[in-house]
Amino acid sequence: MLSWDEYGDDTALETPPKTTPKQADAPALAEPAKSAEPAESSPAETPEAARSEQPSAPVSETVKKAQERIAALDPTPGEEELELGAERVQVDDKRMINCRADLNQLVPFKYEWAWQKYLDGCANHWMPQEINMTADVATWKSADGLSDDERRIIMRSLGYFSTADSLVANNLVLAIYRHITCPEARQYLLRQAFEEAIHTHAYQYCIESLGMDEGEVFNMYREVPSVAKKAAWSIAHTSGISEPTFKTGTLEADQELLRNLIGFYVVTEGIFFYCGFTQILSMGRRNKMTGVAEQFQYILRDESMHLNFGIDVINQIKLENPQLWTDAFAEEMTLMILEGTELEINYARDTMPRGVLGMNASIMEEYLHFIANRRLAQIGLAEAYPGAQNPFPWMSEIMDLRKEKNFFETRVIEYQTGGALSWD
Ligand SMILES: [Fe+2]
Ligand SMILES: [Fe+2]
Repeated sequence: MLSWDEYGDDTALETPPKTTPKQADAPALAEPAKSAEPAESSPAETPEAARSEQPSAPVSETVKKAQERIAALDPTPGEEELELGAERVQVDDKRMINCRADLNQLVPFKYEWAWQKYLDGCANHWMPQEINMTADVATWKSADGLSDDERRIIMRSLGYFSTADSLVANNLVLAIYRHITCPEARQYLLRQAFEEAIHTHAYQYCIESLGMDEGEVFNMYREVPSVAKKAAWSIAHTSGISEPTFKTGTLEADQELLRNLIGFYVVTEGIFFYCGFTQILSMGRRNKMTGVAEQFQYILRDESMHLNFGIDVINQIKLENPQLWTDAFAEEMTLMILEGTELEINYARDTMPRGVLGMNASIMEEYLHFIANRRLAQIGLAEAYPGAQNPFPWMSEIMDLRKEKNFFETRVIEYQTGGALSWD
């Protein structure tokens, strides 16, 4: 715990730190050389007085150079970045993309929904180490703890997600962040980037706790076709806007940014995560691998917020730039979402060659059709799978922990910033 008391005393820095028993046994370190001048020879009573009475030391060439550079510094911001310079930012100056107003000023707020999502994300903070993995380790290591099909699901899920969240994070910070020109949304992107780091941490924590072969898990996105195809599809949608020369501002470039946003928020986070999440959470509902399931439950809650944020950004860009949403472009976006759905259906077939955990590949296919219809509708496109129903209504419940406090054996009480998870 930090204590301000330690900062009130000017002599605190001179007090030697308390030694631990181990340090006390160690050979004494050399004392720093003390001044030969006796302390009483100084006429000054206080350190401040002493400083003011000292003649100013000769200034080195480097200090002089720094002073000259600061004196010559032009406070006008770079013209390429900002066009206003002399004027204060007005709400109407703000734009989701291609904004020319000062991006360093968070307020006045225009996109309050983005700021609210940032606050909600912070209020839902959690860390992977707070989840007890003891029972999972015992189940994983016992010969009859899980069936082969259940083990396959755990391995594939960790294989896909351990790298997928890195792909998402890299796309956020290396591509999307540069081109979204609204400080409220950038604030959320920074929060999301940290959450993606926590997710990668959570998967690594599961892999380490269970003692899995790390090389096998982390390379699955290159070696197992059903996993590799999803990763390759996502990576293909990053390349365009991550080029250092890429700039928004033309019809083609702005459409390329939208293509990336839909590829990442709607397909990668909005479809590719759903088969694996449903399988692992179904395991948790059956009281198996509850630690891994709880990690996934927290991640799913974050992901549903990422998805909602992404959809709001996409719809805001459409609203501000209606010329981008041509019929041909809308058709292409529909095709992208259907490609993503097919990839996820293939993943379901590969991970569930037989029925397992009360589900099978064809029930998952129905669910993915239902999810794809929702994603299409959320960005204003026509549904593609008429009549698809949701066979897993409990999944939507789980996304909101507030409604679902007593889902697993251990009950999760709402997590707030600065606190810890409470269990009772
Ligand atoms: Fe994530
Ligand atoms: Fe995410």
